[in-house]
Amino acid sequence: MKKSRRNFIKTTSLSIASLSSSSFLTGFSNQYSDRKSGNQYMGDFKAPKIKNIRAAFIGVGARGGNHLKSFASLEGTEVVAISDLYQDNVNREFKVASEIGEEKRHQNISLYWGDENKWRIMLQEIKPDIVFISTNWNNHAVMAIESMKSGAHAFVEVPIATNIKDLWNIIDTSEETKKHCMMLENVNYGRDELMFLNMCRKGLIGELLHGEASYIHDLRFQMKEENRGTGSWRTLHYANSKGNLYPTHGLGPVSQYMNLARGEDNFKTLVSFSSPAIGRRLYAEKNYPKEHKWNKLEYKNGDLNTSIIKTELGRTIMVQWDETSPRPYTRLNLIQGTKGILAGFPTRIALEEGFKNLSKDHHSWIEGKDMKAIYEEYDHPLYKKLNDKSTSLGKQIAESGHGGMDGIMIYRIVECLQNGLPMDQNVYEGCFWSAITPLSANSIKNDGGPQSFPDFTRGDWKKTKPLKIVS
Ligand SMILES: NC(=O)c1ccc[n+]([C@@H]2O[C@H](COP(=O)([O-])OP(=O)(O)OC[C@H]3O[C@@H](n4cnc5c(N)ncnc54)[C@H](O)[C@@H]3O)[C@@H](O)[C@H]2O)c1
Repeated sequence: MKKSRRNFIKTTSLSIASLSSSSFLTGFSNQYSDRKSGNQYMGDFKAPKIKNIRAAFIGVGARGGNHLKSFASLEGTEVVAISDLYQDNVNREFKVASEIGEEKRHQNISLYWGDENKWRIMLQEIKPDIVFISTNWNNHAVMAIESMKSGAHAFVEVPIATNIKDLWNIIDTSEETKKHCMMLENVNYGRDELMFLNMCRKGLIGELLHGEASYIHDLRFQMKEENRGTGSWRTLHYANSKGNLYPTHGLGPVSQYMNLARGEDNFKTLVSFSSPAIGRRLYAEKNYPKEHKWNKLEYKNGDLNTSIIKTELGRTIMVQWDETSPRPYTRLNLIQGTKGILAGFPTRIALEEGFKNLSKDHHSWIEGKDMKAIYEEYDHPLYKKLNDKSTSLGKQIAESGHGGMDGIMIYRIVECLQNGLPMDQNVYEGCFWSAITPLSANSIKNDGGPQSFPDFTRGDWKKTKPLKIVS
């Protein structure tokens, strides 16, 4: 008799106590119920081509306007609706789209604001082809699911969702509706990340063994956004959530170097520990009066989280997160192979066989100005194509945000949709990368106990193609 997934999870956690003492595996299970008949496996899925893409935007705070500007600037696009809680945000982005349209495009934009649920009305009234979702984390899953149900492909900011149940619901809805649900992991389009992918594919560092990925970014200043904006909701997560709350920027690129969930290898287990939670309390005490709401919170999530992922092939990835401690920004972006190592922050590489006259072996880094020769030889063809600042597209991408990665991501989304190509990041990848949050939380609750990844692909990762070096 088959068990439903929900029952399985329930019985798994209840039966932990009765497992033999040699088994330490706790929490979620990699078992899954069969895919519903008629549902479509979405790895490598090709949707019908969309010549003129009609897009709606939910959430145009600090982030959403960035996507709107990049999208509206590309040919074959139309902004058809904008929704946010605040009228001033909606009006600002309406103006941006109208100016880009120069009275030829983006001429019929419907605006929705003022109520938590206006986006639902928007989906029904407008029936967009695609929806960009750039709201606070707790809204991502429901908005993505309803967008797909209304007939749209969903493009969702990071993380795609925050708990395992929502991740499965996103996958089941994508498979049922045959709509893409891509997480907007822009870092996969960074110049170094694209180049490292290219170098891994060329076999320059041999067989891949180990990766290091992080989001270490002091964001304490966001607490100044007390009543609206990023800090107003994100601060509550530092108090009440657990584990690595923002895993995907570092992990996305490393996962694609290793072809995780794409034919070669997959996520298997994770262990996680957090440091004490101190920094946010100290920051609140120093910067706000005693009776301020930030001083009434108990900051329960450790300042620095360290997780280790083990893959099916036995490779390891260290994933770290810290948005609180005083330290320069880093995503680590490190990949170790049997013939060399590529690393970020600062960008540097070391190859056993050396490189031209710059290094004779792996005992010293090629870095700083010497990296110029490496970029010349190994820059990703997509980056090379889009980095031509003498073209208006090149200029637009260079100015798009985060060193151009945001513009390249939106360019690829539009290109794939217009040509009916698979997305560069499928729904399963978004879910695996985001699953670090609930898995790390569960591991911490179990004193570092190993957590198995649910196999969101239901075994089909084995037939999904590695991401190509597109040009
Ligand atoms: N990839 C990146 O580089 C990057 C950078 C920054 C933020 N982000 C992500 O972008 C998302 C948004 O972050 P942000 O910093 O812009 O936050 P924000 O608070 O500035 O913006 C979120 C917006 O969503 C709107 N919103 C919330 N609930 C809504 C609802 N029910 N209906 C309509 N609108 C609603 C809010 O009014 C707000 O304007 C987050 O998921 C964050 O993690 C990603």
